Amino acid sequence: MHREMRPPYVVDSEQKYQEDYKKSVDNPEAFWAEVAENFVWQKKWDSVLEYDLDKPEISWFGGGKLNITENCLDRHLEQRANKLALVWEPNDPKDSFVRYTYRELHTKVCQVANVLKKNGIQKGDTVCMYMPMVPELLVATLACARIGAVHSIVFAGFSSSALADRIDDAKPKLVITSDGMYRGAKEIPVKRIVDEALDVHCEHDVTTVLVVERTNWYIHMKPGRGKLLSEELKEVDSHCPAEPMNSEDPLFILYTSGSTGKPKGILHTCGGYMVYADYSFRNVFQPDESDIFWCTADIGWITGHSYMVYGPLLSGVTNLMFEGVPTFPDAGRFWQVIDKYGVNQFYTAPTAIRALMAAGEEHILSYNLHSLKVIGSVGEPINEEAWDWYNVYVGKERCPVVDTWWQTETGGIMISNLGKTGVQKASYAGRPLPGVQPVLLAQDGSEITEDNQEGYLCIKHPWPSMLRTIYGDRERCKNTYFANYKGYYFTGDSARRDNGLFRIIGRVDDVINVSGHRLGTAELENAINFHENIVESAVVGCPHEVKGQGILAFVVVAEQAKDLSDDKIKLEVTEMLVEHIGAIARPDKTVIISGLPKTRSGKIMRRILRKVAYGEQDQIGDTSTLLDPDVVNEIIEKFAAQNV
Ligand code: WT7
Repeated sequence: MHREMRPPYVVDSEQKYQEDYKKSVDNPEAFWAEVAENFVWQKKWDSVLEYDLDKPEISWFGGGKLNITENCLDRHLEQRANKLALVWEPNDPKDSFVRYTYRELHTKVCQVANVLKKNGIQKGDTVCMYMPMVPELLVATLACARIGAVHSIVFAGFSSSALADRIDDAKPKLVITSDGMYRGAKEIPVKRIVDEALDVHCEHDVTTVLVVERTNWYIHMKPGRGKLLSEELKEVDSHCPAEPMNSEDPLFILYTSGSTGKPKGILHTCGGYMVYADYSFRNVFQPDESDIFWCTADIGWITGHSYMVYGPLLSGVTNLMFEGVPTFPDAGRFWQVIDKYGVNQFYTAPTAIRALMAAGEEHILSYNLHSLKVIGSVGEPINEEAWDWYNVYVGKERCPVVDTWWQTETGGIMISNLGKTGVQKASYAGRPLPGVQPVLLAQDGSEITEDNQEGYLCIKHPWPSMLRTIYGDRERCKNTYFANYKGYYFTGDSARRDNGLFRIIGRVDDVINVSGHRLGTAELENAINFHENIVESAVVGCPHEVKGQGILAFVVVAEQAKDLSDDKIKLEVTEMLVEHIGAIARPDKTVIISGLPKTRSGKIMRRILRKVAYGEQDQIGDTSTLLDPDVVNEIIEKFAAQNV
């Protein structure tokens, strides 16, 4: 049942890239069938691909049966049972780390899977997780997959009310959480946030809350609902057969923000996601058998799903999981951890790179970083300065830099330089992976073929890990991704192509990217507008040295609050965002204005606000369609006054 670390689908030369890319376009089904042969299937598929993007209905490896955990765990037991699967580094470097071999991880996953079963969880049920980056989070994720429960992981930086929105949408029977969490110097009462979500904000009833003990703080357990995982584990054994899953059975839901309305539950399914998570992981990072891979993303984001959990374990490398933050206890922490374990592939976000670059060379120069082979970036465009610093100070100009473009919806890396064979250029994500057909479309939907023209980034042909739907809302899925340009998946990004290399410019919708986290401006505005002292608001992104984009809120204050100080209003705006969304939504600037720039039909002209935010007020252009063109001058003045 074992296979080689380097299966035949790893692109290890330019020639192979050319051949495989061509094959994947000429005959996508034959190409992906060949890749999929390398996995353990309980039953082979009947048809590789069937699809109708108008609905959308997409099926990869239809009729096939598999369990992703057999591919992540069981099949490694023959060759890699005693190899380390997981190394966990705690928040505080003085605490002890945890190591699990593939055999131990297999056992733990089976035990937690049995706890889920004992608590009534069956195939198809949803399980929500709201937890720190502790080994149990990874174990519980796989435990869900083991028994066919659909995991819905919510990043533990979201507020109780944001968590409640996601619980009400996904309707989990069970929530897994921890007593508390350590994040840098902060201590966060995770269980209390879950209780607040369930008892104050949620409409949906959750039957069971399983609690992992991380901090050993006193916590209140609601009788009948709250249970300690450690107690439950005493009553189960370590045998748990892997549930046979259809290729198109759901594997997980992961929420992400869109330009309108509530967050979207992106649904991924078992077969295609497995094939592509593995394919993209091996090709981009090109690990060797004894390598240690480290992705710094939280499992609560897609990067964590695909490259902190599934990709590395599917390939059988040793996977490092880190509980803390890059700057605790000091800005040398990442580099210290790399040297401590001899990390070979390192994958992080531009915002972290910029923060560490700003912290000064002294934090990095005392570490040798000799073990590194490939260094990666993800989440937002990486500016040239940060790219150069990463390349020189971290990669020592000897490690390929892989700038990986992808999205929650794509399930895996779509455009990137490939570890050992690619073409790299600062601030260019590079070429598509085999199997991925990106195109740039003009406004009218025609394909742009000339170089150096900006266009809407779309994908032409289905790929195995593309989203299948928005949970509970196929219509919204269709309208968001497949209706703009018929026959294409629309990414929401714009890009340019230069000699075959793609340069991602950024979102073209009302989504901002703050430290690699996607936030919908509509959601931010809704949160602010909840406050009785605010009549209305408009949020746009603004340049931010570390975060890439910051949050800039323009607010109109209600009559009864006109006497309140600006500072008081700003504080209230901040409170609303932190309460309704979480600390990641803390605004960087709040500008109080007397009215928003609106058209006669009442639409907010965000274009104007964006121009002001980026200091391009002289390029605002035509404002004659505004109801009150004077408001523009006020906005420019008030914004300038903020910036002194
Ligand atoms: C959006 C997706 C999947 C990674 C984590 C974020 C932006 C992502 C890059 C990159 C330029 C990037 C895009 C994309 N983005 N990676 N390498 N270069 N932009 O996932 O929250 O679903 O956000 O992040 O704008 O659409 P996400």
